[in-house]
Amino acid sequence: MQLRKALAMGVMVLFWGGMAAAAQAAPAQPAQQASAASQADERDWWKNAVIYEIYPRSFQDTNGDGVGDLQGITRRLDYLKDLGVDAIWLTPIYPSPQIDFGYDISDYKAIDPRYGTLADFDLLVSQARKRHIRVIMDMVMNHTSDKHKWFLQSRSSRENPYRDWYVWHDGKKQTAEGKPAPPNNWQSYFGHSAWQWDENTRQYYYHKFYIQQPDLNWENPKVHEAFKDVIDFWMKRGVAGFRFDAITTLFEDPKLTDEGIVKDKAGKPVINAYGDPKLDDTKTNNLPGVHPVMREMRAAMDAFNSDAFPGTRVLIGETYLTNIGDLAKQYGSAEKPEFHLPMDTQLGFINKLDVAEFRVKLSDVETRIGGNTPLLVFDNHDNPRLDARYGDGAHDVDIERVLATVLFASRGTALFYYGDEIGMKTTPPTRKQDVKDPIGITGWPKEKGRDGERTPMQWDVRPGAGFTTGTPWLPIPESSKQANVEVEKSNANSIFAWYQRLIRLKKVNPAFAMGDNTMLDTSNTHVLSWERKTPGQPAVVISVNFTAGPQTVNLSGGGLSGKVRTLLKTPGAADPATPGSIPLGAFGVFIGQVE
Ligand code: NOJ
Repeated sequence: MQLRKALAMGVMVLFWGGMAAAAQAAPAQPAQQASAASQADERDWWKNAVIYEIYPRSFQDTNGDGVGDLQGITRRLDYLKDLGVDAIWLTPIYPSPQIDFGYDISDYKAIDPRYGTLADFDLLVSQARKRHIRVIMDMVMNHTSDKHKWFLQSRSSRENPYRDWYVWHDGKKQTAEGKPAPPNNWQSYFGHSAWQWDENTRQYYYHKFYIQQPDLNWENPKVHEAFKDVIDFWMKRGVAGFRFDAITTLFEDPKLTDEGIVKDKAGKPVINAYGDPKLDDTKTNNLPGVHPVMREMRAAMDAFNSDAFPGTRVLIGETYLTNIGDLAKQYGSAEKPEFHLPMDTQLGFINKLDVAEFRVKLSDVETRIGGNTPLLVFDNHDNPRLDARYGDGAHDVDIERVLATVLFASRGTALFYYGDEIGMKTTPPTRKQDVKDPIGITGWPKEKGRDGERTPMQWDVRPGAGFTTGTPWLPIPESSKQANVEVEKSNANSIFAWYQRLIRLKKVNPAFAMGDNTMLDTSNTHVLSWERKTPGQPAVVISVNFTAGPQTVNLSGGGLSGKVRTLLKTPGAADPATPGSIPLGAFGVFIGQVE
């Protein structure tokens, strides 16, 4: 309760801070008041924030090599400011052999030359700060590249001091080819055994992802110290936090017990896209050892906060967890905090427009995560874009409008993926020989890899879509002719304009910014409706039609009376006279203030 109240107060200050910044004609605040507001702003900036994920390879190229770079991101900061973004999360930009496009890191304290230099990075951070945009780094602690010096040492001999920085085990009995079989049945998420034989030292090493991404051994305290040092390095350069990659897989069962094989209803093993039996993931994912590590990392970050480096640095978790209890645990407690913002993938990856399921998931984060701030997310660089997971082929833009509304009109912090704001479409390769993401080669044709959601940002209608003057590393989709920033910015009914308006509401409307979420009209299976309410401020109601047919909603049953004044609605829709009769077209949205 206390926590919730503090949160509400923080957002209140943020709201007023945001209003003051937005309304240029507003009278100047007394100095003391302004500085109190900005201190709170620095402390609580992440609680009602809008975070934008950038896949740097695909955002903006400035040197014509077809790959995005840091100078490109700097060049686009005004665009992000105009959109209303508070922070950008950059997927890894460290030196890397790029097998997993940066998630295989070979040096944690430098910038990959393809993206630029440390000086380019410093410039990006300072230019972003000028625009009140924070920079969040990706931190990959589960594994390194096999070209990282720690691993090169580790694999050089069993006696090397770095040997126990990674997960090495003897194999089982000898196979016909003369080498022992892997220690157990564990599999890589990217296909086949998670164990790779090392002939030189005659042991297996464990890799949850690509063979070139050996897992670090988090039982080793030296690994902890190494990462605290890396985190410190980037915090001193002014980053506003980290997104901890693959964090739930830091630990494995020390007894090396086989994982269970998932069976279908007929009792037959389920086979995945790589042709392997699907495993239950119980011995290599979400083991309890992760929590003390998170507490340790969070404490290191909290200790860093000081007058010299003001502003809260946030810890975001890549937390694909299927139940709300597990998600709640990721926050830790007030005494022993863990993540500020573990990603809630339970709502955004429902992957079908099911009103009842959405209602349950939104209620869950309202009532079952201890008053903490939800981090809602619908899209990222690892999953087909929104059109492929939610679209019906006929109303994709309307459906994207529906999803954006759920994202920004719900309580919490919103994370979205570059290109969502212009309705970029998933464009997977059509031929195996064009695939860039290795899982698309291993899994072809069932698994085409992640290229389809990583195509370059579509800025304009030129051949390189304004992304590059060279040959883009992934092809520019045909759909870029309609879905691009230039075209959409000049169209008041575009999905871009919708994102911009929603984000603005999230910042300036008090109920939108900090109100509780209460579900309304809860037996309706076609329309999802909810109310945002905070004491002393007018309530806001939101209704989104999840169907392709027209609907009329009656919200007066929930005790709402009086009139509703439209704040935002699907272009062309009629204004409702009362909360008792809200008309919605196919996948229509209505947002109104109760008066
Ligand atoms: C999750 C990242 O989002 C994904 O792109 C990457 O392949 C794996 N972690 C391994 O680092």
